[in-house]
Amino acid sequence: MKKAPIAVLISGNGSNLQALIDACAAPDFPAKIVTVICNKDEAFGLKRAEKAEIPTQIIRNKDYTTREEFDEALHKAIVASGAEFVCLAGFMRLLTPGFVAKWQSRMINIHPSLLPAFKGMHTHEEALAAGVKTHGCTVHYVVAEMDSGPIIMQAEVPVLAGDTPETLGARVLEKEHKVYPQALKKMILTKTAAQSLSDE
Ligand code: GAR
Repeated sequence: MKKAPIAVLISGNGSNLQALIDACAAPDFPAKIVTVICNKDEAFGLKRAEKAEIPTQIIRNKDYTTREEFDEALHKAIVASGAEFVCLAGFMRLLTPGFVAKWQSRMINIHPSLLPAFKGMHTHEEALAAGVKTHGCTVHYVVAEMDSGPIIMQAEVPVLAGDTPETLGARVLEKEHKVYPQALKKMILTKTAAQSLSDE
């Protein structure tokens, strides 16, 4: 089967990247990661990519004066890799509307809350402070507004008595690893179906 070429953008540990690497290893999974791009030199996710023999690129936001210049460098690197889809996997930079428009309906993000609840950072702390009984994660298409955009999939976890941000976050992360590959597959199949309709 033809596997869609994917770029994964990371900033840190890359456990979601690992879930995508593992999913892509299955012959019937419709994606192949062709590049991992990271904005931090020391990110552990880079090691995960190297171990899987996936080409990595470090593009440091601190090397660019404006967000537009940084995003232009990202865009060029993604295009040069041959990637047709982008997964943000713990990529902790806000992207400019111009960049987002170029990847519209081809770029997804995973966020550690049940959006639209708890956008931004510190989602597990906020969920505990709000006293919700159910928390979770969301995979959504990226639009210019942060942590918004059409939802592809969500997964829920219960909030348990005595939970700390760490215990709750670990329970959410386990779900993230399951849901992100499924949502990636869904994006690719949706886009490929739309493509073949428009080719007819
Ligand atoms: C994940 O929990 C992801 O949902 C979150 O960062 C973590 C990255 O972990 N992303 C965001 O908060 C984006 N707004 P990982 O590097 O181990 O995949």
